[in-house]
Amino acid sequence: MKTILITGGAGFIGSHVVRLFVSKYPDYKIVNLDMLTYAGNLANLKDIENKPNYEFVKGDIVDSDFILKLFEVKQFDGVIHLAAESHVDRSISNPTEFVYTNVIGTVNLLNAARHIWKNTKDKRFYHISTDEVYGSLGQEGMFTEETRYDPHSPYSASKASSDHFVRAYHDTFELPVVISNCSNNYGSFQFPEKLIPLFIHNIKNNKPLPVYGKGENVRDWLWVEDHAAAIDVIFHSGRLGETYNIGGFNEWKNIDLIRVICRVMDKKLGRTEGESEKLITFVKDRAGHDLRYAIDATKLKNELGWEPSLQFEEGIEKTIGWYLENEEWLKNVTSGDYQKYYEDQYIRR
Ligand code: NAD
Ligand code: DAU
Repeated sequence: MKTILITGGAGFIGSHVVRLFVSKYPDYKIVNLDMLTYAGNLANLKDIENKPNYEFVKGDIVDSDFILKLFEVKQFDGVIHLAAESHVDRSISNPTEFVYTNVIGTVNLLNAARHIWKNTKDKRFYHISTDEVYGSLGQEGMFTEETRYDPHSPYSASKASSDHFVRAYHDTFELPVVISNCSNNYGSFQFPEKLIPLFIHNIKNNKPLPVYGKGENVRDWLWVEDHAAAIDVIFHSGRLGETYNIGGFNEWKNIDLIRVICRVMDKKLGRTEGESEKLITFVKDRAGHDLRYAIDATKLKNELGWEPSLQFEEGIEKTIGWYLENEEWLKNVTSGDYQKYYEDQYIRR
């Protein structure tokens, strides 16, 4: 039986990865390490929490002593590292938190793996990263694995830094690592601070939809379960020391995507067509806002046979349906400090 550590497993993408691994690999013991920040929620894993091959550990990756002890006790065979501060807007208001979690937290995990694994080669440290490390594209072109790093936000700078540390531990200490850089994910269990769930939540509650700038920025959207499937393939078959880009080949200008969300919401809520669009409010642009991201995931397709499985039209219908059907989940995650945080955001803008 292999023991695999998944960090950040109570978050959006992490919960989908934990669910996939616990269900697909009954011979693996999956240890989910998560600090349960505002973005972590054990309700995301209700359906698998009693499975015999699943264990939850609450803890902070920034605490190096705790991390080393955990590695000593559990003797992990592999690590899939997702725990992070993940929201660009929060990194603009509080950059230091991103350095602690994303940089120091990652280095603590690398140190523990290096110390406990010594030179064993059949282990694997898999770091989950973002396409934002590559910076911004103009109207043409796509990010490949060879694109030079050029992060602009404190979030992407912290992720770029952690990627560099992971590669440095491979090159310097021969730690068996692999990295992937993925585009924007969407789907169930995403905290309603990110564009898609925030706008679904606001439309439902007749609140303004704050579109940054003119809404002309472009993102490449991927169904979160397709990301989890890519992580499965790369964890098992990706070549050590390599980087794989993951993307949806699915570019959308924000304003066009928002109009699709409004149309689907009108239909699902039984509102007259055009009603939700009236909530669109153009607000001050995000500082340092990257214009366009687009991922070329050809390497992953050619080497490991992965491709996105779900068409966007189906994915967005499913996603909106999920948030409308899971009112209790949405209510829970938007209670407490949530209102205050978003009211402050609107005031600041
Ligand atoms: P998320 O914010 O939903 O979840 C992050 C999780 O990490 C939460 O459960 C949180 O409690 C946990 N965490 C935060 N700080 C911690 C700490 N100090 N110790 C232990 N746990 C801690 O994030 P997400 O959107 O699921 O992203 C997961 C990973 O994927 C991140 O590394 C992110 O950079 C990367 N990524 C995200 C996207 C995206 O579109 N969301 C795209 C590409 C890459
Ligand atoms: O590209 C991968 C990245 O995608 C991940 O690494 C990040 O963790 C994830 O948060 C996401 O970053 P973005 O900044 O692209 O996602 P967000 O949902 O915050 O914003 C998407 C686009 O929508 C972006 O151009 C900003 C815009 N936006 C966002 C919000 C929250 C708005 O116009 N209004 C909003 O209220």
